[in-house]
Amino acid sequence: MAKITIRRDQSAGTISRYIYGNFSEHLGNCIYGGIFVGEDSDIPNVAGIRTDVVEALKAIHLPVLRWPGGCFADEYHWRDGIGPKEQRRNMVNTNWGGTTEDNSFGTHEFLELCRQVGCEPYITGNVGSGTAQEMSEWVEYLNSDGDSSVVRERRANGRQDSWGVRFFGVGNESWGCGGIMRPEYYADTYRRYQHFCRNYGDNKLYRIACGPNDVDTNWTEVLMKNAAFCMDGLSMHSYTIPGGWEHKNPATGFSAEDYWETLVISADMERKIKLHADIMDKYDPEKRVGLIVDEWGTWFEVEPGTNPGFLYQQNTMRDAMVAAIHLDIFNRHCDRVYMANIAQTVNVLQAVILTKDGKMVLTPTYYVFDLYQNHMDARELGCTIEAAQAGTEKHTLPGITASASEKDGVVTITLTNLDPDRAEEVEICAGVPVQEAKGRILQGKMGEYNDFDNAPLKTEAFSDFSIQGDTLRVKMPGCAVAEIRMKVSE
Ligand code: AHR
Repeated sequence: MAKITIRRDQSAGTISRYIYGNFSEHLGNCIYGGIFVGEDSDIPNVAGIRTDVVEALKAIHLPVLRWPGGCFADEYHWRDGIGPKEQRRNMVNTNWGGTTEDNSFGTHEFLELCRQVGCEPYITGNVGSGTAQEMSEWVEYLNSDGDSSVVRERRANGRQDSWGVRFFGVGNESWGCGGIMRPEYYADTYRRYQHFCRNYGDNKLYRIACGPNDVDTNWTEVLMKNAAFCMDGLSMHSYTIPGGWEHKNPATGFSAEDYWETLVISADMERKIKLHADIMDKYDPEKRVGLIVDEWGTWFEVEPGTNPGFLYQQNTMRDAMVAAIHLDIFNRHCDRVYMANIAQTVNVLQAVILTKDGKMVLTPTYYVFDLYQNHMDARELGCTIEAAQAGTEKHTLPGITASASEKDGVVTITLTNLDPDRAEEVEICAGVPVQEAKGRILQGKMGEYNDFDNAPLKTEAFSDFSIQGDTLRVKMPGCAVAEIRMKVSE
């Protein structure tokens, strides 16, 4: 039996809703086909944006969406994506498959997508191949209501009022695809570029600097030392790549060893966050600067027969476990982690949604986001987890992961049994009398997935638990993620 003690006296603070963000890049069939099909498409759409995808994202209350990249951001020139579509410049997407980008999805279309979904936009500007002036004018185009040529241009393109975009990233992976810069050089460049990204009216930009690749603590150190004073957030990218870049796992048809290796890599996110948070604490003890994990998730071999540059992979219950592990870690570290964006929303890497022409399927990862919704903006509650190790000889982890929060007299706990085969009884001590509890669950076999013709995995009602005073006894099936909401009395 496993035991979870909810520590109401220990809280890392409020869980930022932005931890439940997504990332959508001009890559493969994420934007084109996955989100944007154009007004003339037979696929139901509003202003060219797929209605099924919008409805799915609304149902999980997606809070923030990052765009246009990724690596694409540092070769994207925003003026190519405004104005009459037939006059928009074409370019080759050199990062992702060498396809022709016709720029039919640009600033206006992205902000229309955010409006339809009801989420906040997070735009990443081009440092690698763009100028400070270009970035400055993009921010002006987005946010100014003054009388200038740039604002007049926006109005001529059909948008009278500014959008008031708050989250703005200054470059992407500037240590790699964004310009292979040294941290010292980027820190100075960041200072210069962000300086010309002005605040307009009441809109105060939340400026996000490019942060470390995985465990590159030197990057964090140099950035925090030299530029913390002029940033609101520092991004971090860390993917789960079992087998490494050279021998990536297939997304389906994997072994138990692969399964556990994947989960062990995911769980290491906790150590990585602590590494960077400790450095940030040194320069920013008040925790003003947010750690923005704006790319995370699994990276497997592409599906056979698909374009290797499109990063299209299936999504199994293993991905659901990875998502639960990450979201629990982000919740626990909400004193520093202000935003996280899974890579990516549709058809790319650990996608929450897959599409094929007019069909759409919701992945197990989507359902984990569904189960975790109630943590958004709630007060995190510490959890002590006592669980036996599970796994193989080579790869082991505590078999149970969880996180908890409280809002309006309701305690929400999300708990996951990572063991693919063994059910586990879990005793949850809430610390206060539990009046009633309601549950939902996602469960399946480790390699199971939803496909376009057969989608068995989804969240269902869950009631395999009993309440005794302040304690809940839960029978968690193997390979399952559950949400239990407890009405408590003080
Ligand atoms: O998400 C795919 C790519 O991974 C992004 O473009 C880049 O930022 C990262 O390396």
